[in-house]
Amino acid sequence: MIRSKIIGCGGYLPGEPVTNQTLASWVDTTDDWIVQRTGIRQRHIAADDELTSDLALAAARQALEDAEIDGAEVDAVVLATTTPDQTFPATATRVQSQLGMLNGFAFDVQAVCAGFVYALAVADNFIKAGQAKTVMVIGAETFTRILDWTDRTTCVLFGDGAGAVVLRASEGKGDVTDSGILSTHLHSDGASNDILYVDGGPGSTRTVGHVRMVGKEVFRQAVEKLSEAMMEAIEANDIDASDIDWLIPHQANKRIMDATARKVGVGHNKLVTTVDRHANTSAASIPLALAEASQDGRIQPGNLVLMEAIGGGLSWGSALVRF
Ligand code: ACO
Repeated sequence: MIRSKIIGCGGYLPGEPVTNQTLASWVDTTDDWIVQRTGIRQRHIAADDELTSDLALAAARQALEDAEIDGAEVDAVVLATTTPDQTFPATATRVQSQLGMLNGFAFDVQAVCAGFVYALAVADNFIKAGQAKTVMVIGAETFTRILDWTDRTTCVLFGDGAGAVVLRASEGKGDVTDSGILSTHLHSDGASNDILYVDGGPGSTRTVGHVRMVGKEVFRQAVEKLSEAMMEAIEANDIDASDIDWLIPHQANKRIMDATARKVGVGHNKLVTTVDRHANTSAASIPLALAEASQDGRIQPGNLVLMEAIGGGLSWGSALVRF
């Protein structure tokens, strides 16, 4: 059986961190409020001339280095973003050319904060179908560009960044001991469009939009749907929550992450947390956390890692990976 193995990880955060104290001089908020409600202490904000593709490229180059392969060996780029450089072409194609990829294909995936899990699932299926052998999967955002900086209920929550992984086809036995992506589960429910959306944007609305959110309802649905997606992965692979070595949740809010882990029975010591330093970087949050936990040696070969994410749509899902 073909498995998609993660052979390299990379991450990139632009500029110096911007603290809650600094934000408090821009909008009516406090460090205390932000930390109590979200766990966020700082975030990174891309410079005016830095585009999503620049962040993506930096993360992708680090992932290539970690995998010890050359850009020419990559045959597909799947880039999850909700803040592309332009309406078209796909931001992934810009990354493709700068990575020195000579063949293959590149495209963007839009599932907002769930984007990386979606992109991972898409890439995994290309690999399993035999249509690609080595795939660069990226989550990259300049999310701060779509924030309403007069709306304190949303602008304090997000940051910019990018993370990337290199997937490579490898042979597996077809059971849970294989290394590689063991399962992905995706869901969406368009009936909840109106609790988290951008009120405009490129394309048919002819307006530039900003993030709008019904925070309490997003919180409630996030805990419910994320724990369901985690249980789906656990049951599909016939494992126990205690078998999971590391939980890498989408880093939206520490309270959502803690409540979800508690509901499913994953120990707090297994949670990889970056939300305090990165804030919510949307599609970039999981691969950034993954790169950090892999580079600092927390994730070891053989470890079972569960990832889960939810975002606008609503769109959500989980991925179980053995390293
Ligand atoms: N600073 C200070 N006060 C604030 C701020 C702020 N930045 N924002 C809101 N407040 C005030 C409100 O005005 C309100 O004041 P009032 O009682 O005088 O009216 C008070 O704080 C409480 O506001 P609530 O909205 O009830 O606060 P809540 O406890 O729900 O926390 C939060 C808000 C943090 C947004 C929470 O609902 C949440 O985390 N929701 C999930 C949203 C999320 O994570 N979205 C990310 C995108 S989706 C995803 O990635 C999963």
